[in-house]
Amino acid sequence: MSDIKTTLTTAPKALPPSDQLGFGQYFTDHMFVAKYMEGKGWYDAQILPYGPLPLDPGASVFHYGQALFEGMKAFRQADGKIVFFRPEFNHDRMAQGAERMCLEAPPLDLFMQGLHELVKVDQRWIPHEPNTALYIRPTLIGTESFLGVRPSRETMFFILLSPVGSYYSEGTKPVKIWTEEKYLRAAPGGLGAVKAGANYASSLKAALEAKKKGYAQVLWLDVEHQGIEEVGTMNVFFVFKNEIVTPALNGSILNGGTRDAIIELLHSKNLPIVERKITITEVVERLQKGELLEAFGTGTAAVISPIGELHYQGKDWVINGGQTGELSTKLYNEITSIQRGQMPDTQGWITPLV
Ligand code: COI
Repeated sequence: MSDIKTTLTTAPKALPPSDQLGFGQYFTDHMFVAKYMEGKGWYDAQILPYGPLPLDPGASVFHYGQALFEGMKAFRQADGKIVFFRPEFNHDRMAQGAERMCLEAPPLDLFMQGLHELVKVDQRWIPHEPNTALYIRPTLIGTESFLGVRPSRETMFFILLSPVGSYYSEGTKPVKIWTEEKYLRAAPGGLGAVKAGANYASSLKAALEAKKKGYAQVLWLDVEHQGIEEVGTMNVFFVFKNEIVTPALNGSILNGGTRDAIIELLHSKNLPIVERKITITEVVERLQKGELLEAFGTGTAAVISPIGELHYQGKDWVINGGQTGELSTKLYNEITSIQRGQMPDTQGWITPLV
């Protein structure tokens, strides 16, 4: 598959003010769409004006939730160059997720071609200001209309673009997190390790209840309500006096691209980063002993988000006086500088738009 048919919009939208972007509120002028059918392969790759997708109401995505997505970003660097951050990582993770969700993954060349062509067409939408980016949402859904419970033989792959600022309304300031003890996000053998829409659907109720109590997000625990998993919109890191710990990928935690990059950055600085099981009891005990210096979340949308308060069993545990920690600040500056071309990309994470 190499030909992408392009139909440009006749009604380009006005750009939103870049200091009021928030997250995911605006979509660009165009989208990329490609279809797959068993026996036919991938076909009909197109760039189209952004708008509704024609889908049969019997499509498997509506009934059995066959849906998977990715989150990635493009940046405009100081010299005007447009770059992507680790697009192959997102393609590989989508391919692994597709296998679990019984969907057909787009081949790497289709994924990359769609991505580059779409961003080229909509490049005026990439914001310039610090703390902004073009968020990219590649999505895969089952589109066969059939009510028996079996994998769809048809898949649609589409990419949407959205200019964004900070994910949280707190901006880059520390967020308050609620440790969730009633609801579960994922269980061993389930979908927790893949970016299935279903994981986010199952998180909504807990997030809503936490928000009502004044918390930005929830910290998910494992089925024993002890092992720390992730925040759903980000992976978590705890900076202790003698080690930096992030929960090991245990099959129900998402393998975050920013998590992976931060681990690599910490290794490159010879800092003691450990991927292991960590319980909420250990975190609270070490916090009480004064051993927990900082905590932060990592994600494409969230970048590095310091955690200023952690609620657990009726108590709000304040971390680092509720302030952004030294390491969080350093890592945030480093990763955003690499993305913006202000620091050398020694890890080979940056792919220029061609
Ligand atoms: C991302 O960081 O890209 C995410 O997918 C998190 C959330 C916005 C769903």
